Amino acid sequence: MSTHDTAPSVFRRTSVRLATVAVGLAAVVGGAVLTAGTATAATSPYSDIVLGVGGDDASRLLTWYSAVNTDQVVQYAKASEVVNGTFPASAKTVTATGGATTSGEFNRVATLAGLAENTAYTYRVGTDGEWSTAYSFRTQHFDGDFDFLFFGDPQIGSSGNTANDAAGWTDTVNVATQAYPDAEMLFSAGDQVEKATDETQYAAFLQPDQLRQIPFVATNGNHDVGSKAYEQHFATPNTDRSAGPGTATASGGDYWFVHKDVLFLDINSNSLDDASHIAWMTQVIKDHGDEATWKVLAFHHSVYSAGPHATDADVVKRRADLPTVISQLGVDLVLQGHDHSYARSYLMHNGDKADPAEQPGADSVVAGPGGVLYVTANSASGSKYYDLQNKGFPWLSVQNQEKVRNYTAVEITDDTINVKTLRSQATSTQAVNSIVDSVTLSHAPAETSDGQTVQVTVPDAAPGEFVWTIDGSNGLVDLGTATDQGDHYAAAGAINPIRVTDTRTSGTPWSISGQVGDFSAGDRSFSGSYLGWTPRLVQAGGGAQAGPAVASGFVAGGKGLSVSSLLGQAPDGHDRGTAKLGADLDLEVPIDVSDGTYQATLTLTALS
Ligand SMILES: [Fe+2]
Repeated sequence: MSTHDTAPSVFRRTSVRLATVAVGLAAVVGGAVLTAGTATAATSPYSDIVLGVGGDDASRLLTWYSAVNTDQVVQYAKASEVVNGTFPASAKTVTATGGATTSGEFNRVATLAGLAENTAYTYRVGTDGEWSTAYSFRTQHFDGDFDFLFFGDPQIGSSGNTANDAAGWTDTVNVATQAYPDAEMLFSAGDQVEKATDETQYAAFLQPDQLRQIPFVATNGNHDVGSKAYEQHFATPNTDRSAGPGTATASGGDYWFVHKDVLFLDINSNSLDDASHIAWMTQVIKDHGDEATWKVLAFHHSVYSAGPHATDADVVKRRADLPTVISQLGVDLVLQGHDHSYARSYLMHNGDKADPAEQPGADSVVAGPGGVLYVTANSASGSKYYDLQNKGFPWLSVQNQEKVRNYTAVEITDDTINVKTLRSQATSTQAVNSIVDSVTLSHAPAETSDGQTVQVTVPDAAPGEFVWTIDGSNGLVDLGTATDQGDHYAAAGAINPIRVTDTRTSGTPWSISGQVGDFSAGDRSFSGSYLGWTPRLVQAGGGAQAGPAVASGFVAGGKGLSVSSLLGQAPDGHDRGTAKLGADLDLEVPIDVSDGTYQATLTLTALS
């Protein structure tokens, strides 16, 4: 009798996951005082200074208006080197560009580049002998966790009283930056002003000095396109004016930037040329998607809101055109405005609720591939509020309209995005900085799982070898959210197929079997015996045969896949060739299992 060398058993692991509703906790916001920024100079011809985001963490874009069309610069130095308003000889000077504005003034744009991290800077604009007030800002670490502040439709002037609107807006910015003193951006949902040709409204909008101290992220709203003033006031990085284009008299263009571990895309939704938005987003994510863990998209016209604009024809068109692409591009969070009321969607996948079992107001949501969270901000200034439609829109997890000003703090870590919306104005029962809504978004573990890691270490099949590998790049087998079946929860899915190539001439038999451990979620667990499977031949070849079905232990009272079970095999003397083995999974667990997101490891073993 001949003997066969037995290839070393190879272990591959893939994870099986059962998700049910997870429970999170709302955090309480603390208070602190913003300290940046000092004014030092007197009257000057310069106004409307805005510190904007740059294309990366080490740069900022600065814009300002000028009453005079002279050569102007921005001068900046480390704040510690500016003593009593005197800039050091080492201060950097950058020549500004710009031209005439539609309002009859002149604008200037300059880039502050090469900034060091975690450093305070002081800057001024103008020219020798005629400088603006000096302002300060500080960079923070260029990686790690961070938060930013999101504001809905300030729309200064909308109430008919510009001073009131500006006071509300300024108060919201003060409340928000005091509660979040390390916020790294002030992010607008668009509609900065009521009337784009009204420079008095722009001056009122730009009243808070925080707009010169913390990078502002502008979004183009429908009230911003009555002139070119929006793009003359706000320089934005990496802007493509052909995507979401403007007109001869209206601002336009889509832009992106990377901040720490987030790729931000901000599109001009005034343009209904959705094909251009889609082409642009696709290209940006293709070119830069790998540079960040998270992708955040912003545009003004909410597609998942709660107010009267939700059923506008233009919004209906965007809702038909964009969500599937947004899912397919792997966007995590979409920030929007326009409907002057608060709305938080369920996780949406290709335009539908991703998980039918997601509960309204869930404190935490776990997004599988294509799952997207959409948040629509209420007014930050109090200039205008819209009533909720209350028509049972299927996308609404949370809606709120108390007709008090709101702001949203977005806190980003490696693993989570917390979106917390707070009142910047008290109600009769709720204090300033009380929470309207809080949700924590995380990714279902997928692309970094063990299965993928194992897969890339397996070489291509060479002649005369037995090789097997997990097919596909996704090591996570996500069974989604289990459904309530009365006496048990049920979930189903399929393993990532196993590709087996055997080119040996010996016809040596082989087999692959699987065994699952217990499912666990924190300190809770249930037995792996509740998982069963039905092996199948996804691709025939090389004499491979699928193993027998194994029922869930809940149904059959047996041990399910908690004991080693045959996935497939080829008998002695089989043909050479390649086969692909799959298996449908069937999980049935007792109804008394606690809520949670459970995971288990399915270990696959090959023998030959
Ligand atoms: Fe709007």
